[in-house]
Amino acid sequence: MPSHCVLQLKQLRKSYPEPGGRRVIFENLNLDVRQSEFIVLLGRSGSGKSTFLNLIAGIDRPDSGEVIANGVNLTRQSEHRRTLFRRRHIGFIFQNYNLIPTLTVEENLLLPLELTWKRITRQERLKVADMLDKLALQAHGGAYPDRLSGGEQQRVAVARALIHDPDLILADEPTGNLDLDTGRTVLAMLDELVQRAGKTLIMVTHSPETIGKENRLYAIGDRKLQAVERDDGRPA
Ligand SMILES: Nc1ncnc2c1ncn2[C@@H]1O[C@H](COP(=O)(O)OP(=O)(O)OP(=O)(O)O)[C@@H](O)[C@H]1O
Ligand SMILES: [Mg+2]
Repeated sequence: MPSHCVLQLKQLRKSYPEPGGRRVIFENLNLDVRQSEFIVLLGRSGSGKSTFLNLIAGIDRPDSGEVIANGVNLTRQSEHRRTLFRRRHIGFIFQNYNLIPTLTVEENLLLPLELTWKRITRQERLKVADMLDKLALQAHGGAYPDRLSGGEQQRVAVARALIHDPDLILADEPTGNLDLDTGRTVLAMLDELVQRAGKTLIMVTHSPETIGKENRLYAIGDRKLQAVERDDGRPA
């Protein structure tokens, strides 16, 4: 594997059971992702975008094929090892947020740090405060998720995905519930992580206005992942 390639997907196939057989979501799916790439993933509702991110994160397993992240073949790892890898290297902004309802916003953010480093330091608490600040959530640190608006919960989900400084960020419609301005702030944050901190990002979106000119565009549909031509005719 070339050293700059942080993620390789090889011949991935995924199906789900349905009455009378199995429905194939995609097959023969191949993709190489280099460090510091910002990939945008398009596709109709139900085409398999979230499934795709779940396979990359090792939350779900393919029927066949391989997911190789940072040189580690995740498909050959035990569930436990995949979980450890995810905690250390992946930041996942879930489409449905996946916040823990019995923990406050601050505790939700501390969780990925506790899992990685066991004990929370003062510095980490400051990091959490800083992240809340950046996402205009400073007034909500002590609130439980069900007391927050949809957009506030989404920003907590963004904060929690980034707090442990992951190398690979998987963002499933991260601005879907945000107003234009707040969405731009979140996108600018993600973009900066790619441009300045060398992070790698795969983002699902339905909003063309969130697509920057540097992004590589792909779409999932008809069981395939395909590069998308840009409007200006430039290859994505
Ligand atoms: N655990 C599961 N068991 C069975 N079918 C599933 C499962 N998860 C997803 N599916 C099916 O796989 C297809 C793709 O789902 P997925 O959530 O990946 O779509 P999506 O592209 O993310 O859609 P959206 O844009 O609406 O979020 C859907 O038809 C869904 O019903
Ligand atoms: Mg989805």
